[in-house]
Amino acid sequence: MQIKSFEEYKNTYEHSVREPEQFWAGIAENFTWKKKWDKVLEWNFKTPEIKWFLNAKFNITENCIDRHLPAKANDVAFYFEENEDGKPNKAITFQNLHDEVCKLANVLKNFGVNKGDRVCIYLPMVPEAVYSLLACARIGAVHSVVFGGFSAQALQDRINDSSCKVVLTSDGAFRGSKKIPMKATVDEALSACPTIKKVLVLKHTLEKVNMVAVRDHDWETETVTQPPVCEATSMDSEDPLFILYTSGSTGKPKGVVHTCGGYMVFTCYSFLNVFQYQPGQVYWCTADVGWVTGHSYITYGPLLAGATSVLFEGVPNYPDSGRFWKIVDKLKVNVFYTAPTAIRALEAAGLDFVKPYDLSSLKVLGSVGEPINEEAWQWYHKNIGKEKCPIVDTWWQTETGGILISPLANITSTKPGYATLPLPGIQPILVDDKGKEITGNGVEGNLCIKFPWPSIIRTTYGDHERCRQTYFTTYPGLYFTGDGCKRDEDGYYRITGRVDDVINVSGHRIGTAEVESAINECTAVVESAVVGYPHDIKGQGIYAFCIVPKTTKTHEEIRQEILNSVNKIIGPIAKPDKIQIVSGLPKTRSGKIMRRILRKVAEGEIHNLGDISTLLDPLVVEEIVKGKI
Ligand code: WT7
Repeated sequence: MQIKSFEEYKNTYEHSVREPEQFWAGIAENFTWKKKWDKVLEWNFKTPEIKWFLNAKFNITENCIDRHLPAKANDVAFYFEENEDGKPNKAITFQNLHDEVCKLANVLKNFGVNKGDRVCIYLPMVPEAVYSLLACARIGAVHSVVFGGFSAQALQDRINDSSCKVVLTSDGAFRGSKKIPMKATVDEALSACPTIKKVLVLKHTLEKVNMVAVRDHDWETETVTQPPVCEATSMDSEDPLFILYTSGSTGKPKGVVHTCGGYMVFTCYSFLNVFQYQPGQVYWCTADVGWVTGHSYITYGPLLAGATSVLFEGVPNYPDSGRFWKIVDKLKVNVFYTAPTAIRALEAAGLDFVKPYDLSSLKVLGSVGEPINEEAWQWYHKNIGKEKCPIVDTWWQTETGGILISPLANITSTKPGYATLPLPGIQPILVDDKGKEITGNGVEGNLCIKFPWPSIIRTTYGDHERCRQTYFTTYPGLYFTGDGCKRDEDGYYRITGRVDDVINVSGHRIGTAEVESAINECTAVVESAVVGYPHDIKGQGIYAFCIVPKTTKTHEEIRQEILNSVNKIIGPIAKPDKIQIVSGLPKTRSGKIMRRILRKVAEGEIHNLGDISTLLDPLVVEEIVKGKI
């Protein structure tokens, strides 16, 4: 499955476009199927309806685990590195993984979880999080992981949207020197989640938690008594594997649905090719399992490839900003995959945190989640990769399931800030705002994909029309990514960022509409508009313009109210970095907020606001400019 040279990449790419079905069937041959497909692909981007490997039967966990046994029984699947530095290493072998996944799968079965039922996972970055995803997949349950940084309200919305039956959680999580309650948040969320029948609670921080009789069960007590075997449920290729909620430009987060077959084939293929992972290497992706990167490139992709990975519970700057490099040195990490925001934060901390460690094991570096600025790229290249490791700048999305545009390590020559070239099977196209294709090189436009790939989104849970509207109607016949993109003279792609009302804060997608609606819950605020602005560490920060009528409250009190409201409704990740109180917002005569102007103000481009003559009240702009924070 691994491409070995640029020449081979070009030939493979050409083949994958000319004969996509034959190409993907060839890749799919590398997996274990109980029954092979009758047909490789059926698709229609209008409705949309996309099916890969039709009528094939298999179970993804047999491919992640059982297939590697007994040969790899004693090989390490995960090294677990705890939040607290200096703890003895915990190594989880493929046999251990098998046993733990089976035990947990048996617990789920005893809880009454059947094939197709949804299970919510709300856990810190502990091995049990990975076991949980796989235990669901083992019995055909659909996992819906909710990132631990989301609030009770956000958790409740997600549980109810997909009517989950069970929650897998822990007492709490460690975050640097702090302990964060998780079970208490779950309890709050479950005050209005009628479909939840059982909660399994892991003892982790050892904080005292409230256990509700009949509903709540102790993880250890339930799992120890289970046999370490559990037959893998036979799944159809197009049975759902998981739901993962993500934010868009409008409305509530939507549950992106991925199915079993195509997702398996694509995550493994992309993992092996992008990182050029070699047997015996140690791979480390620093993402959280709460995001798609944690699904595709901590859990499924690496395990399908039989890789040895690092699982890290902590944060980059605890106990100090050398933690990543200390772990690289200690575990002799060969492939390291992180986000630009972490790189920028560690760059800011200074080289004294890098110098003490031997980073010579590193062979490949990766970046994901947001555009990487040239300075951060160079710092990463020079100080971490010592100018000998290629950086794979991997572009993809929750909806794409896996990496679509990226260099293949040591095969594609890299260029700072460029995701470079599409993987085999991926057909990008740039279009102008009218949907007309922009051909040739040295151009810029809206990034779309014109042909399906195996791990493309199938639907948005419970609302297929929303999936169609969001991704398949802007440019009919194409999948629209929401990203702007350049194609340079060499045909290399450079993602320039979102062209819709989505902000990318530290690699996390936040919909402006969602933040606005949380802010508007404050009684003091009558209306708000949220935009992104360049932030040195986070990539983008959140800037909120809020209309507050005359009040006796101080600005600081109002600010606190706004922050509390966002924290409560979404979670700390969506808290605005800047809040400006205004008496009005720039609106067109038809009442539409002109975000373009607010974006310019937030970016500090106050002398170049463009045409404001169509505004209802141009004076309001003057006031906003004066009050800029
Ligand atoms: C959005 C998707 C992909 C997993 C993590 C985020 C931005 C992602 C890159 C990159 C420039 C990137 C895009 C995309 N993005 N990777 N290498 N260069 N931008 O997944 O939350 O679904 O966000 O992240 O804007 O649309 P996500």
